[in-house]
Amino acid sequence: QNLEGKTAFVTGGASGIGLGIAKALLGAGMNVVIADIRDDHLAAATAELAGGDRVLAVKLDVTNRVQFAEVADAAEARFGKIHLLVNNAGVAVVGPTELATYADWDWVMGVNVGGTINGIVTMLPRILAHGEGGHIVCTASMSALVPVGMTTIYSSGKAAVTSMMECMRPELEGRGVICSAFCPGAVQSNIADAAKTRPADLADTGYAEADKRRASGGNFMHLYQTKEQVGQRVLEGILNDELYILTHSEFLDGVRERGEATTAAVQTHLPENPEYKQTFAMLFRNPAI
Ligand code: NAI
Repeated sequence: QNLEGKTAFVTGGASGIGLGIAKALLGAGMNVVIADIRDDHLAAATAELAGGDRVLAVKLDVTNRVQFAEVADAAEARFGKIHLLVNNAGVAVVGPTELATYADWDWVMGVNVGGTINGIVTMLPRILAHGEGGHIVCTASMSALVPVGMTTIYSSGKAAVTSMMECMRPELEGRGVICSAFCPGAVQSNIADAAKTRPADLADTGYAEADKRRASGGNFMHLYQTKEQVGQRVLEGILNDELYILTHSEFLDGVRERGEATTAAVQTHLPENPEYKQTFAMLFRNPAI
């Protein structure tokens, strides 16, 4: 698949993983739109990418549907068609579930899940309309595949995003749009700074004390993969049409255990109804039903 001259739209593309992805896509010859809520990140990323007129930096809050459509219009006005959407913008809160306020849930779900929904609703019809084929990648997380304590809000949102790609993949691949879930382990980034973008009306958090304790609990960034490493991995996953774009081999046992546990839980002692099996497969592959 030749990406040269095609256009990518990367949300949260001005920092960390999104910037690493933007770099790799630029290196593959694509035009790249980086869309981000932070002006300072946009300015620094534009300088770091040094992509000249192949880079468009735009301000976008992915939770703002009107703005998302405006920015998509601006991207099309500049580059023509958009072929690749990377729903990557994301934020996190971590800590015991019972401390979470509604505002903690609403902020993280609003950006990580709502922002992805807004990306799909804004961009998918545009990608299908030009008929040149395309790709949607969502940055989920390894925590969508391997259970991790203290991350209920974050991980369940990432599981939702992974599931969107799993559902959309069989639905859209026949029409030339490939869907991928990118599920990395830890990557060097600015996500610890995410609260700076938290809206005032969702400021009420149950994690202020937990955040202070975590901030003094040590910095493990040197153990994490770099944005360039994962950016290249995403590019490779796109070129290979991979559904699950994974990174860290440290999680192999966890991924395997989950697969084995769900497989073992299937009630194989009950007789299978072949008619139900066939009907189920048929119902969910036929857009007319
Ligand atoms: P980052 O903070 O370095 O980059 C995220 C970018 O998204 C920032 O530039 C931020 O300004 C932007 N952003 C935040 N809210 C936004 C909004 N409402 N609208 C538009 N842009 C917004 O963080 P990182 O780590 O690069 O995160 C990128 C994605 O990777 C997120 O979805 C995160 O959940 C995911 N992820 C990160 C991992 C890590 O270890 N860093 C591991 C697994 C997944």
